[in-house]
Amino acid sequence: MKLKLNVNGKEYDLEIEDRKLLVDVIREDLALKGTHIGCDTTDCGACTVLLDDRPVKSCTVLAAQASGHKVTTLEGLSRSKEMKILQKSFVDNQGLQCGFCTSGMLISSYALLKKNKKPGELEIREALSGNLCRCTGYQGIVKSISEASKEIEKTQEKITEVAR
Ligand code: FES
Ligand code: FES
Repeated sequence: MKLKLNVNGKEYDLEIEDRKLLVDVIREDLALKGTHIGCDTTDCGACTVLLDDRPVKSCTVLAAQASGHKVTTLEGLSRSKEMKILQKSFVDNQGLQCGFCTSGMLISSYALLKKNKKPGELEIREALSGNLCRCTGYQGIVKSISEASKEIEKTQEKITEVAR
């Protein structure tokens, strides 16, 4: 089938098999390897991307279903200030070890902080309930997100001060 797909703000004209999954199009056709495949059974969340700003597991979405929507991968958020702060916080707070789950964790965290600027521990854990990590024990990840939310708030306060 022929398919138009908007990924990271860019329109792609693709010719793919009808049954091709979004994650496979992202990785194989668009060569965006920041989106990982950890299970292929909807369990791990390593393949999480934003679909119209909502986190989804791209191994459970047909590429055809994403047509007409806005798909955002980790690469598409690389210039975002919030994502840069999140990435630094994951490094500073031992939010990762092997890093395989990290892109999915970052996407879910980013989506959480967009709708809830000061999430509590339970809200963070709930937002990450679809993302599995086999290495960290989650404490470092939760701390990373919590610290990032404080840092993002500080940055916004500075911007407001400068604008006054
Ligand atoms: S690869 Fe999609 S949930 Fe694991
Ligand atoms: S850091 Fe290894 S799976 Fe999460």
